[in-house]
Amino acid sequence: MTLLDSDTGLAPLEFAVTKNLAAKSPAQRDEILANPGFGTNFTDHMVDICWSSRGGWHRPRVQPYGPISLDPAAAVLHYGQEIFEGIKAYRHQDGSIHTFRPDQNGRRLQRSARRLALPELPVEYFIQSLRELVAVDGAWVPSGQDQSLYLRPFMFAREAFLGVRPAQKVAYYVIASPAGAYFHGGVNPVTIWLSEDYARAGKGGTGAAKTGGNYAASLLPQSEAYEHGCDQVVFLDGDGNVEELGGMNVIFVMKDGTLVTPESPSILEGITRDSILQLARDRGHTVHGRSVSLAEWREGVASGDIVEVFACGTAAVVTPIGTLKGKDFIDEQPTGELALSLREELTDIQYGRREDKHGWLLKLDS
Ligand code: PLP
Ligand code: COI
Repeated sequence: MTLLDSDTGLAPLEFAVTKNLAAKSPAQRDEILANPGFGTNFTDHMVDICWSSRGGWHRPRVQPYGPISLDPAAAVLHYGQEIFEGIKAYRHQDGSIHTFRPDQNGRRLQRSARRLALPELPVEYFIQSLRELVAVDGAWVPSGQDQSLYLRPFMFAREAFLGVRPAQKVAYYVIASPAGAYFHGGVNPVTIWLSEDYARAGKGGTGAAKTGGNYAASLLPQSEAYEHGCDQVVFLDGDGNVEELGGMNVIFVMKDGTLVTPESPSILEGITRDSILQLARDRGHTVHGRSVSLAEWREGVASGDIVEVFACGTAAVVTPIGTLKGKDFIDEQPTGELALSLREELTDIQYGRREDKHGWLLKLDS
């Protein structure tokens, strides 16, 4: 089976594999997997592929996880020409390892690449790079409840050159990190800080691309959020419309059962959001992507027109929003059953506990 309707018939890359002689022992690995947290532990290997404007994609490797040597003039360090993805590998009960809609992440990496003037990695190579890493580090895919191996593909301008132009030498890597819940409270409702002074994206900017600069722009408001006892930030566009959280999309549930999600060219098109909305459609819910103003959100909660608000993304899966805080208000959010029931349906598919009707899973191990 192929997930690719744009199959280009490219020959697979020949990866040179160098095993990590200092790999963690099974006991050390088990200790990490017992309580993986999020994003702090890494597996024993990483994948890397070089690109140059003359040679295209070349030198695919699997090598020991470790520091990357970079020229201090590497363009990424100066101009932030960088993109990334986030995708998980799930262990099923029979021990097999699957990932979820990797063709979508591969295509989004290509869209991000286009916006950041980076080369487009063929989706076939993207998927192969995940397989290569899982082939050597499959033992790092945890099997505990809600645990997964978070895969982080990323690409950056490696060329040493201080002129401002697209780099002619680029590196693509994949690293992996065993993951539990993104938020400390698990699926408990989170508190969101409304960023009134700072935006993460603007018209014509890079908001729809998964590029480091968007996340850098979110860090100061994220610190503000922590100071106000909040877990995440929600951003508005310049016209008072809701965009998204620093690392998640937002979905509103209306009292007639319709699901509404902000749509704008400066929002990252989440694959979790798309999947959740599809599952809701399958259940007969109407789904709309349109602009949602902050006023509509606040008034809808006050009037009872909005009955649930939740955030969704690969790292956070589906997390209800319990409170929205601004400089001069605190709005408690209504919570209901739908977010958690959609979360359960999605994770049941991802972990192989329910039929994958849409053909979203791809088995990664051989
Ligand atoms: N929005 C932002 C800014 C994100 O970083 C993410 C996470 O990847 C998402 C939305 C959700 O996207 P996805 O569901 O594809 O992980
Ligand atoms: C993801 O969900 O994959 C992200 O990149 C978001 C980040 C908050 C970890």
